[in-house]
Amino acid sequence: MSEEAPIADILDALTLEEKASLLSGGSGWETAAVERLGVAAVMLTDGPHGVRRLADVGRFSLDASLPATCFPTAAALGSTWDAGLLTEVGEALAAESRAAGVAVLLGPGVNIKRTPLCGRNFEYLSEDPVISGQLGAALVRGIQSGGVGASVKHFAANNQETGRMEISAEADVRTLREIYLAGFEHVVTTAAPWTVMASYNKVNGVHAAQNPWLLAKVLRAEWGFDGVVVSDWGAVLDPVAAAAAGLDLEMPGTGGSSAARLAAAVNAGRLDEAVIDQAAARLLKMLGRAAAASGAPGEVDFARHHALARRAAAESAVLLKNESAILPLDPTGGMTLAVIGEIARTPKFQGAGSSQVSATQVDSALDAIREAVGEHPRVSFAPGYPLSGEQDPALLAEAVTAAAAAETAVVFLGLPDGADAEGSDREHLDLPDAQLRLLRAVAEVNRNVVVVLANGGVVRVATWEQQARAILEGWLNGQAGGGAVADLLFGRANPCGRLAETIPLRLEDTPAYLNFPGSAGVVRYGERHYVGYRYYDAKDMPVSYPFGHGLSYTSFAYSGLQAVVDGEGEDAVVRLQLTVTNEGTVTGKEVAQVYVSDVESSVDRPVRELKAFAKVEIAPGQSALLSFELRARDLSFFSPVHGRWVLEGGDFEVSIGGSSRDLPLTATVTVPAPPLAGPLTLASSVREWLADPVGGPVLMEAIAAMQGSALASDPAILRMVESRSLDRLIAMTGGRLDTTGIGDFLSQATCETR
Ligand code: BGC
Repeated sequence: MSEEAPIADILDALTLEEKASLLSGGSGWETAAVERLGVAAVMLTDGPHGVRRLADVGRFSLDASLPATCFPTAAALGSTWDAGLLTEVGEALAAESRAAGVAVLLGPGVNIKRTPLCGRNFEYLSEDPVISGQLGAALVRGIQSGGVGASVKHFAANNQETGRMEISAEADVRTLREIYLAGFEHVVTTAAPWTVMASYNKVNGVHAAQNPWLLAKVLRAEWGFDGVVVSDWGAVLDPVAAAAAGLDLEMPGTGGSSAARLAAAVNAGRLDEAVIDQAAARLLKMLGRAAAASGAPGEVDFARHHALARRAAAESAVLLKNESAILPLDPTGGMTLAVIGEIARTPKFQGAGSSQVSATQVDSALDAIREAVGEHPRVSFAPGYPLSGEQDPALLAEAVTAAAAAETAVVFLGLPDGADAEGSDREHLDLPDAQLRLLRAVAEVNRNVVVVLANGGVVRVATWEQQARAILEGWLNGQAGGGAVADLLFGRANPCGRLAETIPLRLEDTPAYLNFPGSAGVVRYGERHYVGYRYYDAKDMPVSYPFGHGLSYTSFAYSGLQAVVDGEGEDAVVRLQLTVTNEGTVTGKEVAQVYVSDVESSVDRPVRELKAFAKVEIAPGQSALLSFELRARDLSFFSPVHGRWVLEGGDFEVSIGGSSRDLPLTATVTVPAPPLAGPLTLASSVREWLADPVGGPVLMEAIAAMQGSALASDPAILRMVESRSLDRLIAMTGGRLDTTGIGDFLSQATCETR
């Protein structure tokens, strides 16, 4: 089948049973084939940071997969704030997918990190929807430019693993739109992924894979998604309800039982055959796209991908602190180094679950450090703690001896196995006791302690950070992470990662603390849209390290902000220009972050929200001129009563700098917009109804349908009644005005997520 294959012809030729068979997998990892008509199966595999291609794709299992490059996990990639780099990673993923015969790679994951406890946070990009959306879209573009489909997951509000198959995420519509859907919206509307994966959980009581509000209304009708909605593996309970809600492909295959239920539902008149036709057509279109790209895949250059994985890992590490510029270390000087911690030798570089990749090779930081320092025996190593189990006093004593004998101690710490894992959440934010005891003991004998962290979800640093002069947050950084850490420690790379999630002082401070993980099958998003920094800033709370934070071996100054407003209302554009100067002595990359605050609003809004960012490399003594454009949407909130994004005219403060709490440039701009009419009700005037972009057309349609009425044919009559309330107009027409559309509009506005 080619992309231009006559889908309508194939649909015509397929029997109802064959069409229905396309709507669920042919196996654990493949779509169904219809050999009679040359419709071939294609393969979908995980994702998201490497190709997890099982040897036996016919079977659904999580067994080991074929070797593939393990790129840094999403927690790391999100911290790069570098869309171009994510596109490069996506291109490499596509090349490996095609070589492995994979048509659709199951990623990226753009769920919001609602709580740092979520076991799958390592698979997600950020606590902020702008980062999740922009970086997710960049990955999709990279993957799809190589002729491989992406699957943006897990749609939607899948923010915890506890009870993940059944839990109902209960959130108000504004919270969903502004936080949990906005990243998906950006990916869908700007990068056109081949597929979107519907998650396991319920959203406001309805399973995502069977949720018409989510799939038909928001995803398809509003965002214009015309690709395939695939279920998460095993997310469909009722294939008929799923198809009716807008799901196209149930995975994994169910051995024909779902197809039989779908066909039976059509035959019994419980499901419109058009629903099956539409889903089958979307599937056929996807198969056509895959076929169009299925030429000879070419050799994969694994060495090049390993080098890319190393660069990406270096770009994602966040230098949290660097007292007295202890880093970078000078490998050519006479210093002696104690490398401490089993993780230096046995890297932790990915999390557990369906994303786990069989890496082509794994670099340890210990080897890379030894390589950087050369043959000279100035590097000692002590494991310090076992990877699992209790503290071993002998290991501790050996590490303390090594630390005491060295000028600098680099201590590798990280989360234990099972902490960053699909299927379960963490219970606390602390590093293992054995590691903290080790750090304390090392710090007692050596003042120059550098900590390197390996973790997917953030860890608490407040209890021990004073024992370290520098902390490098390395994340779960993929198979080449060890080399990247050595590059950063010795200044061959300059740290340029920035926190895409806040590091809180303690678990009790976190936004969802009182509302996580829920009970009796329900988790209430009671913190509403105050997630991550939006929460800490609203409460003016201290944190360990704020969103956006990250140090460099150089320093940057911001100057010369100019802000100009063009246009008004929906057409308004705020144009920003500013200069960033590298004031240090080495080349470095800065991430300029643009935050917006609405000075006065009719609703409660976060103190500031990230709306744009740019990563730029600047040579020492040089400056970069940066420009940004903010659009109406960047200034708007989602109004549930209006059922749409709303820009309220007035003053907005724009703040720019290197983190959410370091914003040296500020400008106030005035953005004109028409006054915001209140929510429409039957008591609203006809004029108010007509002025509403959604309600107006609904009313006009009802009026136009009044055959023979002067109201429908004479605009002057309509003008005469404009000041009346709608219920009076309805009464005046003596029942001739059909109020069905108006009733639907009003019930949707008050109950938006049903
Ligand atoms: C996960 C998905 C994954 C799928 C296939 C599910 O359990 O939630 O992220 O793509 O399995 O392995």
